[in-house]
Amino acid sequence: MSIKLSERVRTLKPYVFSSLDEKKADLAARGIQVIDLGIGDPDIPTCNTVIKSLKRECMNPKTHRYPSYQGRLDFREAVADYYSARFGVHIDPVTQVMSLIGSKEGLFHAPLAFVDPGDYALVPDPCYPIYETAVKFAGGLVHTMPLLEEKGYLPDLDAIPEDVCRRAAIMFLNYPNNPTAAIAPPEFLDKAIEFCKKHEILMIYDNAYSEIYSGNRRNAPVSPLSRPGGMDVCLEMGSLSKPFSMTGWRVGYALGNAEAVRGLLQVKKNVDSGVFEAIQLSAIRALQDCQDEMRHNNDIYTGRKEEFARIISEAGWNIPVSDSTFYLWTRVPEGDDDVAWCEKLIAQANVVCAPGSGFGEFGKGYLRFAMTVPLELVQKAAEKIVVMLNR
Ligand SMILES: Cc1ncc(COP(=O)(O)O)c(C=O)c1O
Repeated sequence: MSIKLSERVRTLKPYVFSSLDEKKADLAARGIQVIDLGIGDPDIPTCNTVIKSLKRECMNPKTHRYPSYQGRLDFREAVADYYSARFGVHIDPVTQVMSLIGSKEGLFHAPLAFVDPGDYALVPDPCYPIYETAVKFAGGLVHTMPLLEEKGYLPDLDAIPEDVCRRAAIMFLNYPNNPTAAIAPPEFLDKAIEFCKKHEILMIYDNAYSEIYSGNRRNAPVSPLSRPGGMDVCLEMGSLSKPFSMTGWRVGYALGNAEAVRGLLQVKKNVDSGVFEAIQLSAIRALQDCQDEMRHNNDIYTGRKEEFARIISEAGWNIPVSDSTFYLWTRVPEGDDDVAWCEKLIAQANVVCAPGSGFGEFGKGYLRFAMTVPLELVQKAAEKIVVMLNR
């Protein structure tokens, strides 16, 4: 019997990294070491406090049962306390927070909760590719909001046609931004909140990188929930993946407007059964006890970004270093074919990076390097690229 795939699966765009995987595998088969700066997956281990907590908590059979859909109250309280300390906002842990199996889960399910077939979702481009897939799976229409370098990678909200605004149910925003590493100034968030309020659009704010930034607390990224009116229009997704090096643990949260939390929870109740309780309990330890490790890790990422950009500049390629995320986002050194440059970097320097066009058409001509390998490898990758460029 031949299996018929649904149209939504048949028409899926290939995932950013899948086309590079073959080339990587080919080099590996020939015994050539490839330095992978493609995927943004922290190499630094999860902090010990959290690992010890998981060992302890998973010995308790009470954690072995189905978890609650919304998440343990103490986990939700820990998230609310974290937001209060970090962003100065009051969040009710009973009605305004829910756990997620990683923020990707919430981002994917949000359109199912809030978008009807034929509704528009406002989606930035370039962006984390899940937003577009999620909207299409829900039967929604994507209205692309270009993120242009000359506009600080912020969407031009005034350019969105009035009829699209009328039919838009949600707007995705993500700052600190993947892939551009841009940060949104508070004034932009205020404008976006006003815009959403005026057009009755739910803002789905992806804050997965809120804690990955250089320097001190004064230039820390903000949450729209802390801006006037933010709590009314916004459902924010947060994650322990990047700040606490917990990508494999699958734990995150959604928080903000209580009605929106309830809506997303209704989808979740029909799809999965929550986050393993031993992981939730260990995530509390991360939120409460791992701030020093998190700051230390940020210093490591900053050092790697600066070193990579410094070495590459020796070949005359100036890569901007943003204060946030562990990504470097840069125009290709020549021309605008990012995929060809990726292939050239793999073949000639044995370095993998992500082609900008994998994040949307406005990513064309850009490359993203993830600083998620140790400094020695970052240096080696940069040196090999310099040799390649000077050839
Ligand atoms: C912008 C952005 N949002 C969300 C996620 C999902 O993170 P997680 O599901 O691990 O919380 C990622 C992962 O790379 C991301 O880059």
